[in-house]
This record gives sequence, structure tokens and C-alpha cells, in this order.
Amino acid sequence: MKSTGYVLITGASGGIGMELAKIAAGKGYSLILAARNEKKLLELKAELESKHGISVVIHQADLSKPEEITKMAEELKIKKLKVSYLINNAGFGLFGEFLETDLDAELNMIDLNIRSLTHLTKLFLPDMTERNEGGILNIASTAAFQPGPLMAVYYATKAYVLSFTEALENELKDTNIRVSALCPGPTDTGFSERADLGKSKLFNNGVMRADQAAQAGFDGWMKGKTVIVPGLQNKILAGSVRFMPRKMITSIVRSVQGKN
Ligand SMILES: NC(=O)c1ccc[n+]([C@@H]2O[C@H](COP(=O)([O-])OP(=O)(O)OC[C@H]3O[C@@H](n4cnc5c(N)ncnc54)[C@H](OP(=O)(O)O)[C@@H]3O)[C@@H](O)[C@H]2O)c1
Repeated sequence: MKSTGYVLITGASGGIGMELAKIAAGKGYSLILAARNEKKLLELKAELESKHGISVVIHQADLSKPEEITKMAEELKIKKLKVSYLINNAGFGLFGEFLETDLDAELNMIDLNIRSLTHLTKLFLPDMTERNEGGILNIASTAAFQPGPLMAVYYATKAYVLSFTEALENELKDTNIRVSALCPGPTDTGFSERADLGKSKLFNNGVMRADQAAQAGFDGWMKGKTVIVPGLQNKILAGSVRFMPRKMITSIVRSVQGKN
């Protein structure tokens, strides 16, 4: 999977994205790291460049805004930086009953979790297909496998990510481009705080470390797995929903996620 181009990772200033950056750097890949928090990106750049002797380019952007995505792509083109691998990781969730949650936050979530991932894929995939090399790793979630009462919009965004990824993988199956979806369960990152999950029971039953989720994702992607579910508990959950009536799964998720 080695290439001379860069690995572009969105949401690399923390959590799973930062761990994916560390793994890719350790394998000798040069990186383009994007997120809103420039200070954290600069710190990570300094750490990875000195530790691994690779090149790290940072790009501060709010990727929920299409114009900032276009601007990033233009800047990379001017700097003649070739994106060989794209990791669409930036995303967030929001806990609460739909009647009570904030519409602007949810529309912004759709813009980031769905729209920006689609936009970035559209921008960088043509170059990959032209060279017949590269790959895309989309960060979905175990939320992608069933509806999620009390996080209705978030679960729906991740169902999109999984469906889109599997369809794209099929369209590209005769190429050298690897397309995968990583579907982590509850993971110890900044996610739960931003999603207001302190009010939920979801994270009460054990969480995975971010580096473990990232390692499973990177390894599965390298091996050409289309859907990667890290951890036994998450695998069982993702597998079992296939055999249960949809209404039953939905009410189980509701009780697992319920208020603390
Ligand atoms: N943690 C979990 O339990 C879990 C489970 C399943 C799936 N996931 C998925 O894993 C992915 C990574 O999340 P995480 O758990 O690592 O959470 P995190 O620690 O909150 O990291 C999210 C990353 O996305 C970036 N980001 C957020 N909004 C952005 C925006 N508008 N523009 C650009 N970057 C933005 C953040 O950087 P800035 O704040 O600097 O912009 C940060 O680097 C997400 O897609 C999430 O849905 C997480």
C-alpha cells in the first residue's frame, strides 16, 4: 500500500484521527492533517516530524463549510501535494430527544459527517483512479448498523457513511484503490463530551482506547477489509442486529442509550 503521495486525515487534532496520524507516520507516510484547532495540529506536526522524519503539512479548516474544503483542495494543488490516501475521520454526535436537540447543531453534523466526507471523496478520488493507486478510509460507527433513538441524526449519518463506503468499494473493486469503513463502538476520545453523552448510559459499559480502534482500522484497511468492526463486543453487537426484528433492535438501543 506504500505510495509517494500524502495521507490526508481529517479531524487529526484529537481522538481516533490523531491516533491514525501516529500510526501512518510510524509506517513512514507523509501526512496532511486537517481540523479546526491549529495549535493541536502544530503540536502533532512537531512530534511526528521529529519522531519519524516524515513531512507533515497542516491545514486549519472548518470542514463543515464546503468553501473551506474547496480552499483546502486548491491550496494542496498549488503546493503540488498529491493525496494518495484519504481518511475521512472528522465527525461528531449529539445526544438527546429529537424534539429537544438543537437544529443548527444537527444540520452542522450532517454537513460534517455526510456532506464533507462525500465532497472530499469526490475531490480526491479521480486522481487516485487515474493513477490506479490509493485508498479511502471512512470512519463510520457501530451506530451505522441500526437506528439510534436519542441520537437519531447521528446514527443516520453513520448509516450513510457505511452504505456509501460499501457501494463505492463495489464500484472500485477492479482497481487498486482500497475503500474501507471503520465502525468503532464507544471509544475514549473527545466525542462523548461534544455529544453531551454524560447524560447517557452508553459509555457506562466500557470503552475502547482510541489507539486500539485506530490500529484495527488501519490494519483492516491495509488488508483490504471493507467493513472493520474493532473489538469482540462491538463485533457481536454489529453481527447480532442482522438477525433481530428492526423494532426490537431500536428499542434495545433506546434502553442501552437511555438517560443516566
Ligand atoms: N469516540 C467514539 O465513541 C466513536 C465511536 C464511533 C465512531 N466515532 C467516530 O470517530 C470519528 C472521530 O471522532 P473521535 O471519537 O476521535 O472524536 P474527537 O476526539 O471529538 O475528534 C473529532 C475530530 O474531528 C475534528 N472536527 C470536529 N469538527 C470539525 C470540523 N467542523 N471541521 C474539521 N474538523 C472537525 C476535531 O478537531 P477540531 O475540534 O480541532 O476541529 C477532532 O480532531 C468521528 O467521525 C466519530 O463519529 C467515534
